[in-house]
This record gives sequence, C-alpha cells and structure tokens, in this order.
Amino acid sequence: MTHIHFQYDGANRFIPANLFIEEKEKVRTAFQKVIERNGAGNDFLGWLDLPETGTEQLSAIEKTAARLREQSEVVVVIGIGGSYLGARAVIEALKPHFCLEDAKLGKPTILFAGNNISEDYLFDLKEVLDKKSYSIIVISKSGTTTEPAIAFRIFKEHCEKKYGKEEAQKRIVAVTDKAKGALKQLATQEGYDTFVIEDSVGGRYSVLSPVGLLPIAVAGHDIRALLKGAEQMKEQLFSNTNMENNIALQYAIIRNYLYNNGKKVELMVAYEPRLFYFIEWYKQLFGESEGKENKGIFPAGCIFSTDLHSLGQFVQEGERVLFETVISVEKSNHTVAIPWDEQNIDKLNYLQDKPIHEINLTAETGTRMAHIDGGVPNLRIVIPSITEENLGELIYFFEISCAVGCYLLQINPFNQPGVEAYKKNMFRLLGKEQFQKNTLTY
Ligand code: PA5
Repeated sequence: MTHIHFQYDGANRFIPANLFIEEKEKVRTAFQKVIERNGAGNDFLGWLDLPETGTEQLSAIEKTAARLREQSEVVVVIGIGGSYLGARAVIEALKPHFCLEDAKLGKPTILFAGNNISEDYLFDLKEVLDKKSYSIIVISKSGTTTEPAIAFRIFKEHCEKKYGKEEAQKRIVAVTDKAKGALKQLATQEGYDTFVIEDSVGGRYSVLSPVGLLPIAVAGHDIRALLKGAEQMKEQLFSNTNMENNIALQYAIIRNYLYNNGKKVELMVAYEPRLFYFIEWYKQLFGESEGKENKGIFPAGCIFSTDLHSLGQFVQEGERVLFETVISVEKSNHTVAIPWDEQNIDKLNYLQDKPIHEINLTAETGTRMAHIDGGVPNLRIVIPSITEENLGELIYFFEISCAVGCYLLQINPFNQPGVEAYKKNMFRLLGKEQFQKNTLTY
C-alpha cells in the first residue's frame, strides 16, 4: 500500500477529457521498455532493483555509518550531481530546520563539499574542520570528476595533517566504481573502507544505492524505511501497467501532453522549505534525463509561499509556458499556536484557532485557484507527511515517471552527452594536457 496520491483535476481545463484513453498504447509501450529493460540506455536500469537491496549490504552501510557518527562532530560528504543531490535531498528533508548543539538528529552535522569550485567555500569549510572532529565520505562513480577531486585532495591532506595518516585512513570512506577510476585506485592504495556504485546505476538514479544511503544513515535516518517506501511504490507501479491505477504513468502522460501543447517549463513547488533540496534533486533527475536533442521540459523549482513574493508575479501573469506540480504535505510534524492578542493591532486574531499548517494549505489552495485561472495547469503530488518511507515512495515515483517520460520523447533517459561540452573548454583553458588540441567553442 502506497501513501502518495496524484491529483490532476487542476489540469483538466488544459487536457482533453479522453487523454488517458487516447494515449494508452503510447504510454504502455514506454513503460514496457522500462519493465522489460529493452529501451535506449537499458544498461543503466540497475536502479530499478535498488529497493530490494539485501540485508548484508544494508548492515555494512549501517555499521560504517555508526562508526562515522561515533567518531565525528562533522561528516563531510564530497560529491557533485548524482553523487550529491540525492543524499542532500533526503537529509535536508528529514532534519530539523535548525540543528544546534542539542538537536537529536543533525548530529553529526553533515556538510557537503565538491559540489562547486568556490575557493571561499573551501576556505570556510577548512576553518570549521580545524575546530571539529570529522570524517569524510568521498563519492564519485567515475572517480575523475574535477570538483570533488579538488575538494578531496584538499581535505585528505587536511585530515592526514590533523589526525596522522593511520587515523585519517579510518576517517575516510570512498563510494566509487568497483574497478576503475582514480578514486578507486586511491582508495585501494590507502586502504579506505569502500562501497561500490554498480555499473548499471547512473548518478542521478543512485540515491537508493550506497551513494545516498551511506550519508543518509550517517545523518541518523532510517534507510530501511526509505527503501521500504521505494519498494511499496515499485510494487504498486509494476502491478498496474495500465494508466488507471498507475500514478507515475498518469503524471508522465500529462507532462508530455502539456509539453507538446506549449507548456515547456515545469515548476516543481513545495510549501515546506525542507523540500528545497528534494526539488534540486528532481531538477537534476529530469533536466539531465530529458534535456537532449533540442527537446525536454525545463525543470524549475520554487518554495512557496516564499517565492510567491518574488516569482509569483511571473507565474500568475508572465509568459504562459509554465505548468506547476506541487508536492503537498498533508500533515506537519509539530504544532505552533498563534497567540491571542488583546490589542489585535496586526488584525491576526481571526487566525488564532487555526493550525499554522492549515493556513499553509489554504495558501496552497488559494494559489492553485489563482494560477489555474491565470492559465497555469496544476498537478498535485500529495504525501501524508515527510518521513523516510514517504520520501522513498516519492523517489521511486519520480524515477519511473522520468524514465517513461523520456521514452515518450524518444530520448535515452540515462546518458548525458551535453555535460561534456563545458568541461572540454575548461580543461583546454586550464592547460590540461590531453585537451590542448581541442578548439574552444563559442
Ligand atoms: O547523473 C550523473 O551522471 C551526473 O550528475 C554525475 O553524477 C556527476 O557528474 C558526478 O559524477 P561522478 O559520480 O562520476 O563524480
């Protein structure tokens, strides 16, 4: 039994009433390519099986996580793209907003590095690590990505200077390819604990592999519940190959229809700021999977009501290229009362009996009505609350929808040829040897 609901009545005005009937065969064919593993890029479908990760692997991850938690005030997770965003999405969604010293979760503090090339970022992190006990998880499937490689070189040296080489070796864990790449070579040479990223699991589909599970477990979250949620969603989707009961297919075909009818941008919205990085993960998953061959929906993100006071104007009245998908959370985890005020100068006493979450949901309803009226189709993905299990369901739902959506566009969901272009220019400009014969593109 899954907990997520998909509601598309806010798009009814923009799609034909018989869309599901008309597109039934098209979407079924796309889904069969995923299930039967015979579509483009089918070497990279190992993520389909990640919800069934065995106990032995999970126990190994939990054991290493417990050791890192025990020995560290801070754990630095080094990685970029698919080797970064999934872990951050789940950790930020589950931790309290403000983790000060006594917060139960949020200890150790997880800090991220290797996801940019900012010198000041690296400097500031070094300053923190001078004063805190720490460990490092370095994640790179290829083992050769520049941003994490730079960060790892810096913090490996820092760790060895601070703790000595022998102790540093116990404080560094690598997640990488089983055989190839500089990181694998380094990990073997230095004797680091290592977890493997399977060849068949691409970066942006790797959150349910050790890439995501190890940092998430180190942050103190229940990785078995996360996988349980994903497994429930898998069962639900795989046992319903027709659209009536398959929310991933419904979402995929509506997105596809809207895209083909001028809605080129999907605005993924949450009314919970803790989902900011979940939306970042969604942006990578869909952007890097669909955005090829001059096709694809541009995946954008907003946190409302915050961004209603900035981008809200554009959403309501700007170029009509948007549709909106809201991840709506039914229940908050805590309650905070709005106090009665005798003077009522701010005129807020009318809200005194209302739970704040209800006010938030009412903001969602009011916004939804206004945006639909303004020509923005509205889709809703409703989850009961933010828990490991529900996030696991959500992750698997988006992954399946994304793969199916790419096949609907006749695109390989699992490659990313476009990300190489900037690298070639950068390496040429930096003087990296084998790139000197390249012509700069502009
Ligand atoms: O989804 C992808 O494949 C990319 O975003 C990669 O995850 C990212 O470029 C990092 O690559 P690597 O893990 O090889 O360092």
